[in-house]
Amino acid sequence: MDSTLIPTDLIPTSSTKTDLFYKDVIAGLRSSPKRLDSKYFYDANGDKLFQELMNCEEYYPTNCELEIFSERTDEITRALIADGDAFDLIELGAGDAMKSSYLLKDLLAKKADFTYLPIDISDNVISYLNITLPVTLPGLNISGLNGEYFDMLEKAASMSSRRKVVLFLGSNIGNMPVPEAIEFCRELRKHLSEDDMVLIGMDLKKDPKVVLAAYNDKEGITKRFNLNLLERINRELNANFDVAKFDHYPTYDPETGACRSYLISLADQQVDIGANETISFQKDEHIYMEISQKFTIMQTDQIAINTGFAPLTQFFDGKKWFVDAIWVAG
Ligand code: AVI
Repeated sequence: MDSTLIPTDLIPTSSTKTDLFYKDVIAGLRSSPKRLDSKYFYDANGDKLFQELMNCEEYYPTNCELEIFSERTDEITRALIADGDAFDLIELGAGDAMKSSYLLKDLLAKKADFTYLPIDISDNVISYLNITLPVTLPGLNISGLNGEYFDMLEKAASMSSRRKVVLFLGSNIGNMPVPEAIEFCRELRKHLSEDDMVLIGMDLKKDPKVVLAAYNDKEGITKRFNLNLLERINRELNANFDVAKFDHYPTYDPETGACRSYLISLADQQVDIGANETISFQKDEHIYMEISQKFTIMQTDQIAINTGFAPLTQFFDGKKWFVDAIWVAG
């Protein structure tokens, strides 16, 4: 399949995207307490800031998962190849595909018969992958899909009836509250057939100081990452947030494993969003920005079993801070 071709019906027009963004932002900022959806962090600037975050000293999840993928590549790809039949390797939220590239390279070396279908909400990411991966990984069949996960999974299923192997890495599942994560896995199972597989990366509970530092880095990258969403609203929805009047406030609850980020208004202030909307903030009022849930090992197995999967294998980094688990659809 031509790697540069994304079927045009898969690309929402920018006005549809902007309308939805506006609707979600207004609904979130009108609700009490105020909230914004962290899926909107990832515009071109947000993608760059997330890259910076992944390289910063305190943000450990990327290095842990890279360690797993670089040191256990052969075992992981052998498990995914299973009986050797052809398959579609679908990655939800592919990002720069740095981690999955270890698997792609090894699958190509093993002459596995597969097509790589990265799915990402960021059109920047998909264009980048469609152009660069066939150059860095000659022989790779790739067809990037830009859009929401389940819409694109349906598209992928309509494109081929081959066995599906879904990669959901980086503890992206942690960006949903646990009940929503469970619902997400159930929905994922509905989009798969028996014996399809999921390779899922989940960040584990650990020293609370280590977790909190990862979301409160000294350089302030996480702060800029959060504030960028306000700047994005300024840029795309013609708003006038003064980002200097908001501060970043992360919390971690070791009991529940929920790490949450907030922006705190530093003053009583009003913000115009487009011509028709004005939002008032009181001093010290918060906007809930993101959850990054941390799990116990037992919880990861329970989520699999409760959502129609059988846990097959688990791969850990040396410190046991992160797990990549393979689940088989039952
Ligand atoms: C993408 N996601 C798994 C990251 C996380 O750790 O929750 C996003 C992030 N937010 C702040 N730092 C990183």
